[in-house]
Formats: sequence, structure tokens, C-alpha cells
Amino acid sequence: MHPSLRPFLSLCLLCCLASSSCLSGAAPPKALVAPIVYDTSTSLYAVSPLGGPPFDRALLLNLDSSNLWKDCMDPLISLSTLQAVLYGSAICNSASVQTSLITGDPGYVSGCTGLPTPICSNNSCSVFVSGSSSSSPNGVLWTGTISLLSTDGAHSGPLVSVPMFAFACSDDILLNAQGALPSNAVGAAGLSRAALALPTQLARKLSIQRRFAYCLPRSSIPGNGILFFGRSPYVFPPAGDISNHLRYTPLVFNPQEADSYFVGVKYVSVNKVQLPINSTLLQLTNNPSIIINGEPAVVGGTSISSTIRYTQLESSIYDALAREFTAAATGMGLSPVGAEGVFETCFDASAAQTSGSGYAVPEITLTFQGGQGASWTFTSSNSVAVVGDGKHICLAFQRLDKFQIRSIVLGTYQQQDALLVFDIANSMLGFVPDLAGLGSHCSNFPFSTSH
Ligand SMILES: *[C@@H]1O[C@H](CO)[C@@H](O)[C@H](O)[C@H]1NC(C)=O
Ligand SMILES: *[C@@H]1O[C@H](CO)[C@@H](O)[C@H](O)[C@H]1NC(C)=O
Repeated sequence: MHPSLRPFLSLCLLCCLASSSCLSGAAPPKALVAPIVYDTSTSLYAVSPLGGPPFDRALLLNLDSSNLWKDCMDPLISLSTLQAVLYGSAICNSASVQTSLITGDPGYVSGCTGLPTPICSNNSCSVFVSGSSSSSPNGVLWTGTISLLSTDGAHSGPLVSVPMFAFACSDDILLNAQGALPSNAVGAAGLSRAALALPTQLARKLSIQRRFAYCLPRSSIPGNGILFFGRSPYVFPPAGDISNHLRYTPLVFNPQEADSYFVGVKYVSVNKVQLPINSTLLQLTNNPSIIINGEPAVVGGTSISSTIRYTQLESSIYDALAREFTAAATGMGLSPVGAEGVFETCFDASAAQTSGSGYAVPEITLTFQGGQGASWTFTSSNSVAVVGDGKHICLAFQRLDKFQIRSIVLGTYQQQDALLVFDIANSMLGFVPDLAGLGSHCSNFPFSTSH
């Protein structure tokens, strides 16, 4: 060996030993991927299994969940494959959570009778887990080994093991709550900003960037979408790397829901006509008449959801959108037919023109805050839904009729075939609104079948 190589090699050996991604000789990965599957029965998205037992079942893709949690009781997981996380340990101390559903610090597990089980083990650390509903039972923290596929951004590569990954075991309460999890899923892959959610825990353990991205597959097209962790190109054949199509807006920090993802919408428009919306609703503001944890509630603003299907709008925003959309649609020859199923604003489809892959309908655009004023125009496949055996075209947005704390919750129907990059480290959201416009789809990422 040439002597000058020695310092480099020993340095590299050190970093390999220091990082848990120390594969036999392989360079540590910069990015990881997992397939995303749409579940027709719940309209939720599942992340494919993250390794062998006990991680061999699908998990709900959940931006609001603060950890990876799963049912450990049915089937019962053997504790010999797990390591306990004790109350007071560094991992336990990092397990606080703060979302709209749950806020709280970890707890101390005691009073377990009989032999320890995955959900009761004296001196362990208990945390909140949540599905898409507001139920938030406790789970108990353990560490185990998960694995994800490495990627160069263009293909999936070998599996990377991540030992000592902290996750929560719960019993099957959430599984019994109808519609809370995709069919076949046994827990959730938490993608929030919390320390134990996947993006931050993977970033720390593998020394990859603290960012993730997802591309939700269109429910009408067979094939998997994709979840990326770390920094890589985003290659979707035949479009190639679509990174240079990303537009950015700052992620907005909400101190009351520090783990969740908010963006600042500056205005909403239909065919470039700006809707008359009370701008206070588009900002996060303190409402002293609602108290949360002793503080005035932070209300308004726009959050991003991975579990709510159709974008929800505060009532006056919905009205403004429906009014302008109806006026523009009528001008295009569409006749309003009133409400249909879960939608309030529908049109007779028989007179509709088609355009590209969908119907020609008025264009709805969100324009975001931030220097560049990035905007997101929904394609017709993301702004309207075809219902009633193809007879009706409905505005695929929903009214928040009772008082809700948020003004806009961006739903997954509007995110289909879009790439969203959650750059936590730089507090930015990057997005490509429409892969189809680039000649591709989220389902075009070539997962190798050999792994
Ligand atoms: C757990 O603690 C309780 C008292 O809080 C005790 O009765 C029980 O025996 C303990 N269980 C184990 C397995 O040590
Ligand atoms: C805008 O909304 C805020 C918050 O709901 C309200 O206090 C204010 O009066 C509204 N302004 C107008 C002009 O309607």
C-alpha cells in the first residue's frame, strides 16, 4: 500500500465504524427508498415493509406520526429480537411529540404483571402513537433492525440495515379502528419532524441529509409510488432527473405543532383570477378564545397531509373557490348539477371537453409565500373527480364546515403524481406539481426486482 493512502483509509474506517451503515466494504448510502402503495379501500397510502420480522408488514405513510409504530401483539413479537429503551435514556428523552393530534413527553412504564410483553415492560419508555384518526394510545419504545433499499436516485440498490432503530410497539387498537390504516398495514411510518420519526432518525444513524421526498402514485394507474430519504437525484423515466423542475417555498414553523408541516399560501386563483379570501385565514395567527396547553391556539394557515384524501378548505375559502370555479366552468359550457356523494360542487360530464389525460376544467392555482412566489397549478386529474359512473365531474375539494383550526389542509388527491421534497434541514418544501406534464408518473421509478 502506498503510505500516503493510510490516513485516508484509517479515517474512512473510523467513519465506517462510527456509522451504523458499516456494510462490508460498501460506501455508505446517501439515500434510501421504499415503495408506496395506494389502498383503494381506505384511500390511504402504505409504505412497503422495512425489512424482515418484525418489520415485514406494510405501514401507513403518515406525515403526522412522530415515530415508527406497529402492532407487536398479533402476532406476538419475540422480545429476543428487540432491545428495551429504558425511561430516562437518551432515546427516551428525545421522544417528545407535538402534532395536532398529540402533544406530550414520554412516560414511564410500570406495574406490568407477569412476564414483560412488547407493550408492557417495567422501567421502559412509553410514547404516543397515532394513526390517521385522533386516537392516540400509548406504545412502548424498543429498538430493532429495520432495512431500506439504497438508491442512487435512478434505481434501487442493495438493502441497508439500520440497527438500533427506535420504534414503538402498540397493541392492535388502531388496527381495529375502521379506516385508520390501509388494509394489510400494521402500524405507521412516521415522517414528522420529531427526533424519532424516520427522516431524523435515519439522518442521524446513516449520516444522510435530513430530508425526505415522496411521490404518491395516481390511484387510477397501477404501480408503486416512492418514498426517498436523504439527498439524491429524482429520476423518473422517461423524464430523467426532475430535480431541476423543483420549485421551493419555505416550510412554516408552528410552535404548537412543531412536528407537522405547514406552508404559506399567499393566494388561490382560478384561471388566474385571484379569489377574494380573508388573508388572515391564510396565516398562522393566535386565537385567544381557544386555549391549547395554556396558550392561545395557533389557527389558520395551510398544512400538508398524507392521510386526508381531498383538500379541505375553511368554509369561506371553499365558497370563494366554488363560486369562481363554477363561473369559469359554466363559461366553458359545463352545467352545474349540485352535490354528488362527498362533493358539493359538480357538473354534468357529457358536455365536458377532454384535454391531455383528463377533462378540460378551470385551472386552480396555489401561489406560495417566499421570494420566488412558487405556484402549484393542479392538473384536472388533481382538481376534479369523476363520479356517478362517469356522469359527473366534481370539484375535488371539501368544506371544513364546523370550526377547524386549519384553513387549508392539502390532501393526497391533489398530491397524486406530484413530487414533494420535505427538506427539514433547510426548512423548505420543494415540489414538482405534475410528473405527467413531464411525460412521467410517480409509478415510473424503476424499483429493481432482484432485492
Ligand atoms: C413490574 O413492576 C410491578 C410493580 O410495579 C411488579 O409487581 C412486577 O412484578 C414487575 N414485573 C416484572 C416482570 O418485574
Ligand atoms: C378575517 O378573519 C379574521 C379571523 O377569522 C377575522 O377576525 C377578521 O374580522 C376577518 N376580516 C374580514 C375583513 O372579514
